Amino acid sequence: MRQMYCAQVCVAHINQTLRLAGWIIHVRDHGGVLFMDLWDHTGYVQVVINPGPIFDIAQGLKRESVISIRGQVRPRPDGTQNYDLATGKIEVVVDELEVLNQSIVPPFSRDEAAKVNEETRYAYRYLDLRSDRMQHNLRFRSKLNHVLRAFLDQQNFVEVETPILTKATPEGARDYLVPSRVHPGKCFALPQSPQTFKQLLMIAAVDRYYQVARCFRDEDLRSDRQPEFTQLDIEMAFVEEKDVMGLAESLVKHLFDQLLNIQLGIFPIYAYDDLMAATGSDRPDLRNPLRLVEIKEWVRDCDFQVFREPARDQHSRVVGLNVPGGCSLTRSMIDDYTKFVGRYGAKGLAYIKVIDMNKGIEGLQSPIIKFLGDEVSLNIVRAMGSQDGDLIFFGAGLTSTVNDAMSNLRDKVGKDLNMLQGDWSCFWVTDFPMFEKLNDQRGSKLQSMHHPFTQPKQDGPTPLEWHSRSYDMVINGHEVGGGSIRIHHYDQQIEIFKLLGIGEQESLEQFPHLLKALKLGAPPHGGLAFGIDRLVMIMLGATSIRETIAFPKTQSASCPLTNAPAAIGIEAQIELGIQLLTEEESV
Ligand code: AMO
Ligand code: AMP
Repeated sequence: MRQMYCAQVCVAHINQTLRLAGWIIHVRDHGGVLFMDLWDHTGYVQVVINPGPIFDIAQGLKRESVISIRGQVRPRPDGTQNYDLATGKIEVVVDELEVLNQSIVPPFSRDEAAKVNEETRYAYRYLDLRSDRMQHNLRFRSKLNHVLRAFLDQQNFVEVETPILTKATPEGARDYLVPSRVHPGKCFALPQSPQTFKQLLMIAAVDRYYQVARCFRDEDLRSDRQPEFTQLDIEMAFVEEKDVMGLAESLVKHLFDQLLNIQLGIFPIYAYDDLMAATGSDRPDLRNPLRLVEIKEWVRDCDFQVFREPARDQHSRVVGLNVPGGCSLTRSMIDDYTKFVGRYGAKGLAYIKVIDMNKGIEGLQSPIIKFLGDEVSLNIVRAMGSQDGDLIFFGAGLTSTVNDAMSNLRDKVGKDLNMLQGDWSCFWVTDFPMFEKLNDQRGSKLQSMHHPFTQPKQDGPTPLEWHSRSYDMVINGHEVGGGSIRIHHYDQQIEIFKLLGIGEQESLEQFPHLLKALKLGAPPHGGLAFGIDRLVMIMLGATSIRETIAFPKTQSASCPLTNAPAAIGIEAQIELGIQLLTEEESV
């Protein structure tokens, strides 16, 4: 139907008669002559329609209508050339026009898609996808998939698909369930990850497995979380941490090199505890130079209760965050930051402005000096290494609250004051605690930090002090991938389940497939999974993973395009042996 794409027409085609097809995006009526831009994913070319029968048809067309034309290419008159466009020196004079699809007035202009509300934009996602931005993003993602497959294929990885209708796979979120018609009273679960299957593939001697795998997790959504997302899932047999990390790192470097022409250096490895101490986060953006400094020892005996109490408690922290040049922050900016940390549970945000160190205590300005005393205040400022003009923010309280509040403050201040250095911060995090303590109504219990199939190092006096053989890859403040060396012995797996409060019998009911296989020749193995949506988002410099997904879900985990999820009729419910309660009935 066409001889070439719209943006391929150029001066080389002058005087040729071409057939072209595409969408009309702009129409300009210049007193009897119509200029239209004919568009496809490559870009657009200007077509000219002179008075005559075609003119009348063309004049009635709304933008986004699809046409095919035949016309002769000619140079644009001097003064009307557009040097920013590949097609800017020519135009096509139409002698035949066929309307292939007449569009109604579109709900929004494609240039304004980013500004319309989420519901409307996703309800007409195919219009939004016609934007240059989304065309680029989709094609970039496709290329990335292609490059990673070629890379892994070269390294002898085997692509294997694993079931979508399966059993619960514990990754810490709620499951999406699918009732079975054939087995009344039973449900399939959609996989939160292919975790147990990829371990079975190692036991099956596949040796090196990968899959571009869809995963489903019913959890609170954020800009880098979707209920349905894609992992590049990898597993390798007879390996240790360095093998998996080495492979994963070279893959990411290869993707950056091939797709962005960026050569990343070696990824440093940081211990979880060190990162938490210095930033309050296990996935900090280290382009941000701000660091937290523990000041417990300086305030243990001071009169300021807000600092003294947590300084004496082993589950609490007192930290300072020195902001270079922070003296320029106004009272109202500091109030805003105080409200900001309040969202994360901080009860306040004490600060000291360091105006002039030479003047001793006179050179400091802060509402808390009167509580801390002169000596303690000066000691803190010295310990923080502050310079004239700096401001120190303080966080005191339970470690989890302080980490949450101060890591978010660190991010925000770093961005607000344009402090990020360099373009890329890529590193590994290792030495995660094996377990974390979870407190609920029934008391406290242990929960895996990664997942229950991860091997512990058994390097502490009690399980709560053990570290795990897991690793995360962090790029620019996002966890792009994570994995571990797995347990490959039945007894150890049962022991871990027991520590998690799941007895042997219950474990056997939940994971019969894996547990049986661990007794039938399970080699040592390990792997990891990348979040492809996240990786693509970061590589594109986008702010949400929805920018990388053709048909994403909204913040409320629904799809305005198809109106999913949808109610199902009573007959279907009976057939499935289920009864769905409406929102009112389920309260
Ligand atoms: P994990 O749960 O850390 O590990 O997931 C691996 C990576 O998947 C991405 N990711 C997500 N991306 C978008 N939306 C979500 N809701 C979402 N949840 C996770 C992240 C994360 O780093 N089976 C293990 C891997 C293993 O041990 O090999 C797993 O799933 O980028
Ligand atoms: P208050 O005694 O509550 O008036 O607090 C005195 C100062 O300490 C104020 O500047 C508060 O913002 C700050 N502050 C209170 N609680 C905390 C906390 N948990 N961490 C850091 N600063 C705090």
